[in-house]
Amino acid sequence: MTILHVDSSIHGDKSVSRALSHSTVAHLAALNPTRPIIRRDLAAAPLPHLVSGETDPSVAEEFLSAQTIIVGAPMYNFGIPSQLKAWLDRLAIPGKTFRYDAHGPEGLCGGRKVIVVSSRGGVFSAGSPYAAFDHQEGHLQAFFTFLGIPDITFVRAEGLALGEEAQRRALQTAESEILKLVA
Ligand SMILES: Cc1cc2nc3c(=O)[nH]c(=O)nc-3n(C[C@H](O)[C@H](O)[C@H](O)COP(=O)(O)O)c2cc1C
Repeated sequence: MTILHVDSSIHGDKSVSRALSHSTVAHLAALNPTRPIIRRDLAAAPLPHLVSGETDPSVAEEFLSAQTIIVGAPMYNFGIPSQLKAWLDRLAIPGKTFRYDAHGPEGLCGGRKVIVVSSRGGVFSAGSPYAAFDHQEGHLQAFFTFLGIPDITFVRAEGLALGEEAQRRALQTAESEILKLVA
């Protein structure tokens, strides 16, 4: 029942996604205090970009050792932080986390749950005028689905740049979504 807690924001103590990912971990740990928690801070200890066909499986093995993966994922320039992308690049290993056969791709990471804590300055939810600009949540949804994990929950704090009142409401909404999480 291990939890893997991943953060990627560059904003340290001021980070919204870090505050909310910590709330998420604290909530799940309160529900089950014996769960082991693995921490990976991709800003404090960035993974290098892939520069060759290297196949170090240790990052993927850490991922596979967890049943619940909590990912703090801010929107930077309409996508995910490059630190988070470097992590994804080390998770997708043919034969380990996915495989292809004559029928197409098959994800090998089923039985896990991913909780993405998404923070963003603007509003990009479905139906909003800028929904098509969202290459952050959609990317993560596609990636973890490809790995065979359909159980993906988004905890979202958006509109954070739209003034104090909008920010307060966004944080309140996200915190109340966190309290509803059960696993
Ligand atoms: C480098 C950078 C790029 C950003 N790009 C966007 C963007 O494209 N769209 C947006 O709505 N907000 C953008 N923002 C604002 C962040 O999404 C927002 O401040 C969010 O709270 C960041 O989460 P964090 O505090 O956990 O890092 C950007 C912030 C930074 C630092």
